Amino acid sequence: MGVLWKLEPATAAKHRLYQRYLDAWWPILLQTAQSTGYTRPRVTLLDAFAGPGRYQDGEPGSPVIILDRLLHHDALDRMQLSPQRVHLVFIEKDRARYEHLMAELHARFGPLGDLPVRVEVRRGEAGLDSLPLLTELGAWGHPILGIFDSWGSVNVPLDVMRRIARNRSSEVITTFGPNWFSRREDLNLDILDTVFGGRTFWTPADEELRSDERWRIWLTTYRDALRRAGFGYQLQFQLVPRTGQPLYLVFGTGSPAGLRAMKDAMWKVDDRDGESFRDPRTRGAEADGQLNFFQMDELCDPELVELVTQRLKTGPAVVETIGEWLLTETARWMPKHALKAARQMRQDGQITVTGAGKLTTKSRISL
Ligand SMILES: C[S@@+](CC[C@H](N)C(=O)[O-])C[C@H]1O[C@@H](n2cnc3c(N)ncnc32)[C@H](O)[C@@H]1O
Repeated sequence: MGVLWKLEPATAAKHRLYQRYLDAWWPILLQTAQSTGYTRPRVTLLDAFAGPGRYQDGEPGSPVIILDRLLHHDALDRMQLSPQRVHLVFIEKDRARYEHLMAELHARFGPLGDLPVRVEVRRGEAGLDSLPLLTELGAWGHPILGIFDSWGSVNVPLDVMRRIARNRSSEVITTFGPNWFSRREDLNLDILDTVFGGRTFWTPADEELRSDERWRIWLTTYRDALRRAGFGYQLQFQLVPRTGQPLYLVFGTGSPAGLRAMKDAMWKVDDRDGESFRDPRTRGAEADGQLNFFQMDELCDPELVELVTQRLKTGPAVVETIGEWLLTETARWMPKHALKAARQMRQDGQITVTGAGKLTTKSRISL
């Protein structure tokens, strides 16, 4: 592959998801909290596999999208940008792509030193250089969002994730390219040990030979690794574009608010673009295009029904509890969807409701 390559539909879909998520993330972290008057002294975004900043047909790469979106944010006048406060850090290993990225940023934004945020672009190795760079830039003790967006070579040690997980209000996004799960044989076993935190953790995934099951078990294995690293909440999903190959994403955060913001971003990604988000837990449900809330008023997605059924197979539960489970354990569903699913499932005779009266979030239901 040359310095630039063609933008794949899954990458474009991933960029839309990042945009939506960052639109929510920046103001949450940069605006002064109204209740306490607290303003965070520093916020750092690390894009550790930055790329050359542009695709073959001119579309922007992640560093350009991230910076452009921040500088043109609707809440710009409330976010108090300054180079001391807001750090954007980009790492790229390949020399030609690193040089391209530098030139691209300069061409689009002018001298980086004149920007209202600090932009650090380094030629380096994500796994080795992320932590020292975050130390050099004084990122620790303040929120960090780490984006680890390699293609096939997911090679960032779990220790890096662990350090970020233990840092206050910090999150990571790790993506796995389309061929990662089938190409795993090419990878170095010792590297896998560092990425997953030990051989015993990943060998069961390696033993799964059915191709449509491999991605599920590998992704779940990585999600478990992020949990062990210290992220209290994790999301894992397959991002399915309308055409082309899917992409896989695992998100780790310490806060339910972060989880909700990522799910909101998934829901907002325009259904016109045809992407959908598939939960590794479901097999039967079709990967339909993302439904918007208007459509959701009328329909209950088969994936939602399948997930609630799975949850109820473990025993009866209160609707509210199922809602919490949907938030923390499933790729895209929110607490409010539990009641909607319960209503439809009762109508279809799939569940029984304990006690008489109206079905509410306090009702206990069973299969
Ligand atoms: C999937 S591309 C990044 C795409 C970019 N984040 C975007 O969304 O536009 C992966 C990039 O990581 C670079 N790379 C590969 N291994 C790396 C490593 N160990 N550390 C940093 N960069 C690396 C590759 O040269 C390539 O440019």
